[in-house]
Amino acid sequence: MPGQYRFSPDEALREVRELHKLGIPAVLLFGVPKKKDSMARSAYAPDGIVQQTVRLIREKVPDILIVTDVCLCQYTDHGHCGIVKKKRDGTFTVDNDATMELLSRVALSHARAGAHVVAPSAMMDGQVKAIRETLDSAGFTETLILAYSAKFASSFYGPFREAAESTPSFGDRSAYQMNPSQVREALREVQQDIEEGADIVMVKPALVYLDIISRVREKFNIPVAAFNVSGEYSMVKSAAEKRYLDEKRVTMEILTSIKRAGADIIVTYHAKSAASWLREGQK
Ligand code: PBG
Ligand code: ZN
Repeated sequence: MPGQYRFSPDEALREVRELHKLGIPAVLLFGVPKKKDSMARSAYAPDGIVQQTVRLIREKVPDILIVTDVCLCQYTDHGHCGIVKKKRDGTFTVDNDATMELLSRVALSHARAGAHVVAPSAMMDGQVKAIRETLDSAGFTETLILAYSAKFASSFYGPFREAAESTPSFGDRSAYQMNPSQVREALREVQQDIEEGADIVMVKPALVYLDIISRVREKFNIPVAAFNVSGEYSMVKSAAEKRYLDEKRVTMEILTSIKRAGADIIVTYHAKSAASWLREGQK
């Protein structure tokens, strides 16, 4: 992905310090582990890559909000978001219960490391409830849950999957991510996550789902986040590189549209440049 890098924990710390100076209030961490296996063991290791990084940032930059992605896809050798059972006919199903248990463990390990917010993105049924219960019974009642509630099976995730090496080795994610044509299902998913204890709900991707952001914002009285995903970002970057588009103006217009649609929080790879442009504008 143009302009995006993978960091070691100390490099991540350096980056977070810069972001903090630019006025960016929060970071969302994704891990790329050294070892992958069928049970995603490195996802909940106390000294895993995300856990280490969270501890470091929490210690050195205490006032930036730390959000962690809670999923298994970067940690499983097959690249699916859950534990997979392959059936004899070659098709597969995701083992919802086994996955739930692991996602809860991952979330707890992040909370223990010092994450303020955990963000389950696996789209497993009941994941928010399971994580809330696990966190509460371990005493992490103050740790918030940002639920990826309306997450569509989108083709705009390509650049991220390449960067995170999390492309499924067989099948696709349409069994657990939503069909792009569904509106009411998205609203149902949001409602369910709120009932299960989500503190913030998210719509993903953002740009081709602005209508969903608006509907969620109108219908529910809870903070709404929007994830301006890797493909949306990369389109702008490559068009700007070819000089078809003015990167700064197009980016600010895009971010404005997401805000206008009703997002309280925008997760975006444009954050660093947008924050610098906003600063320049204030001078
Ligand atoms: C999966 C996950 C995805 C992204 C982050 N975590 C989607 C997917 O691969 O299905 C995509 C983020 C992006 O494209 O920026 N849990
Ligand atoms: Zn995943």
